[in-house]
Order: sequence, then C-alpha cells, then structure tokens
Amino acid sequence: MELISQDGFSFVFRWLHVLAGIAWIGLLYYFNFVQVPAFAAFTDAGARNMAIDKLARRALDWFRFAMLATVATGLLIIIVTESYASDGPGGIGWGAAPGTSILTGMLLALTMAYNVWMVIWKNQQVVLANAAGLLEGKPADPNAAAAGRKALMASRQNAMFSLAMLFFMVFTSHYSGAYDTSGGAKVVYWIIVLVIWAVLEANALGFLPWKTEAGKGLNWFYEGVSNVIYGAIGLWVVLWLLWEILFQR
Ligand code: HEM
Repeated sequence: MELISQDGFSFVFRWLHVLAGIAWIGLLYYFNFVQVPAFAAFTDAGARNMAIDKLARRALDWFRFAMLATVATGLLIIIVTESYASDGPGGIGWGAAPGTSILTGMLLALTMAYNVWMVIWKNQQVVLANAAGLLEGKPADPNAAAAGRKALMASRQNAMFSLAMLFFMVFTSHYSGAYDTSGGAKVVYWIIVLVIWAVLEANALGFLPWKTEAGKGLNWFYEGVSNVIYGAIGLWVVLWLLWEILFQR
C-alpha cells in the first residue's frame, strides 16, 4: 500500500483538504453571492424567517464543519510535510518561497476560520434564535439586526480574503519556486502584508472609527456583491505585485 507512507499521507490529506475547502468556500460564496441578496429581496417577513430557520441553519451547520475539516486537514499536511522545517538543501523551509507563500495563505485562511467560529457563528445564533422565536409568535429580539450586521461584515471580509488565500494555497507547490525570498526583502513583505491584514480584519470586526456603519470608510467593500469582488481582486493584485517587486529572481 503506497498510500501508507509519508508521501501517501501527504497526498491523501491534500485531497481531503481540497474537498473540505471547496465545501467551505462554496458555502461562503453561496451565503455572500446568493443567500444574502435573495433574503433581502423577500417581501414576506414570515417566509424569510422560515428560510432562515430551515435553510440558513442547515447551510451554517455544513459551513462550520467544512471549515473545521479544512483547518484540520491543512494542519495535517504541515505535520506530514517535514521539509517545511528546513531551509537547507531538500527542505522547502518557512523562509523559502513555498514557506513564505503557504504562511501567507494560512494567515488569511486561519483568520477566516476565526471569523467563521467567533464572529459569524456567534452572531448568526442570535439571528437564528430570533427567526425561530418569531415563527413561534414570540417578540422580536432587538439585538438581532446588529448581530446580523456583524456576521455580514465578517462574512464579506472572508469572501474578500478568499481569492488571495486560495491563490497562495495553490501557488505554494506549483509556482512559488520561480521567486527568490532569501534576501532582506522578506521583512518588507511581511510588514506590508501584516499591516494590510490587520487593517482589513480590524475593519471586519468593527474596530475602525466608522464601526459597523454601512458604506462608511472601508465598509464600502461590504456593500453589495460587486464591491466584495472588487476588494478580493484588489487584495490579490496587491499581494501578487509584492511578490513581483520584492521577490523577482
Ligand atoms: C484554514 C487553514 C488552512 C491551512 C492550515 C491550510 C494549509 C495548507 C497546506 C499546508 C497546504 C500544502 C501547501 C503545499 O505544500 O503545497 C495547502 C494546500 C492547499 N490548500 Fe490549504 N489550508 C487552509 C485552508 C484552505 C482553504 C480554505 C482552502 C480552500 C479551498 C484551501 C485549499 C488548498 C488547496 C487547493 C491547496 C493546494 C493543494 C496542492 O496543490 O497540492 N486551503 N493548504
């Protein structure tokens, strides 16, 4: 059984990782590009509450567990890929181009995982309980709208991160070798990447001066499907340009 070997495990975990990843990100795109605009178009509040209770609840269950499976299999790949530990001959190393690439992808992916569990799910539980309560004739929860807004901002930020995240996942083994990250430019790279990441995530969490206010400041990126897509492409272009400028051989 060739699969019972380090290479075999590395392959099987990659396969399961991509499978879990498409389930997670597929549902993320469903929420952002299909469900949110569709629910906003519902003219019947009762029908919307029914859809939240019966449809969104199920989609969120698959979404959370697909995220956990993606993180688990991604970390398993790291564990079986010994060469990440060494920058020397035969090692791909955290400091070498594949290591720099996968660390960038993981920074974005793990932030997205945090947003799913700690922000989206936490706030969606309030929205789901409100919808279920209304269907049973209970009074509306006054906190539901604010909770929905917080979940929406984190979800839209995740959609914005996803394009660059997936680029670096695939770039790691399939193209990063064309770049040289051995010089001091890596420090500049990480400072710029971390600043961009911190500003965007702080915005998603409502920590910037405009907080959760619609359309204000960087919240512009969360207003509508097109803006999210522009943001995702913009972030990817900036990160890719950093590689072109700083790590050109
Ligand atoms: C959440 C935390 C995640 C971690 C820790 C993680 C980790 C990894 C690692 C270590 C690799 C192998 C890189 C290499 O050596 O080539 C990888 C590859 C990959 N990941 Fe992730 N990943 C995460 C999230 C995601 C997500 C959300 C997706 C979405 C689909 C994804 C899709 C992929 C793909 C397509 C590959 C390339 C497989 C290949 O070309 O062999 N990952 N990931």
